Amino acid sequence: MAYDSFMGRYSRRLAPLFADTAGVTAGQRALDVGCGPGALTGELVSRLGAAAVLAIDPSEPFVADCAVRHPGVLVRHGTAEATGVDDASADVALAQLVLHFVAQPEAAARELARVVRPGGVVAACVWDFEDGMAMLRLFWDAALAVDPAAPDQARTLRFGRPGEIVELFEQAGLAEVTESTLEVTETYTGFDDLWAGFEQGIGPAGAWLGAQPDDVRLQVRREMAERLGAPDGPFSLDAVARCATATVSAPPP
Ligand SMILES: C[S@@+](CC[C@H](N)C(=O)[O-])C[C@H]1O[C@@H](n2cnc3c(N)ncnc32)[C@H](O)[C@@H]1O
Repeated sequence: MAYDSFMGRYSRRLAPLFADTAGVTAGQRALDVGCGPGALTGELVSRLGAAAVLAIDPSEPFVADCAVRHPGVLVRHGTAEATGVDDASADVALAQLVLHFVAQPEAAARELARVVRPGGVVAACVWDFEDGMAMLRLFWDAALAVDPAAPDQARTLRFGRPGEIVELFEQAGLAEVTESTLEVTETYTGFDDLWAGFEQGIGPAGAWLGAQPDDVRLQVRREMAERLGAPDGPFSLDAVARCATATVSAPPP
């Protein structure tokens, strides 16, 4: 699937770190919110077993792909704002690289608190778009050099800055909110391997690039290669995600 060559290669690496931070351990029931094709779902299955994992996503192709990749997991259509999941039915709800796409994040935080049992955990992580996610930073810096009006994700997307997810969780009434950073490294076989991911049309970067005329696409490609030092072999890029975990309080007696 196209997603795998672009973001999936990072989210697969991020999933075990995120699951560790959220304290996912055998015996729990977990909800994967915004599962995509299932990078985190797979990590949850390996820890909890397929029957203990529920995954939701608003994208039908992702729902179908996740279901095929993870037999035995209940994969449903749903959003973070309206999961369709019963009250207090999960021990942990996780949203990996999702909050920045959610139209009503405040409603989503309340919804995640609703579906997790008292004492359970809600967790979310989002890339540090400003300068922590080298792949996207390189792309948008190159795009801005070619077109100063390019919609740099650091300016348009929320929740990658310190404290943003924490504030959202606290406003939703969640307790013991803790912030951390998660860091992964991805290796590319060469510049074409990196560039091919952007050509898939995935996410804001792929969508913007796909809407540009050929000469602009070529200029962005050249600019990006130059900023990377025109590598003629393998290289690695780091990515930092901002993460917050919180506990669901018991309802007042
Ligand atoms: C960058 S992908 C992350 C997918 C997966 N969690 C991962 O780590 O690979 C963002 C996902 O958020 C989903 N999404 C977008 N809006 C959403 C919403 N309102 N509620 C839940 N998921 C949403 C998209 O369909 C997509 O699958």
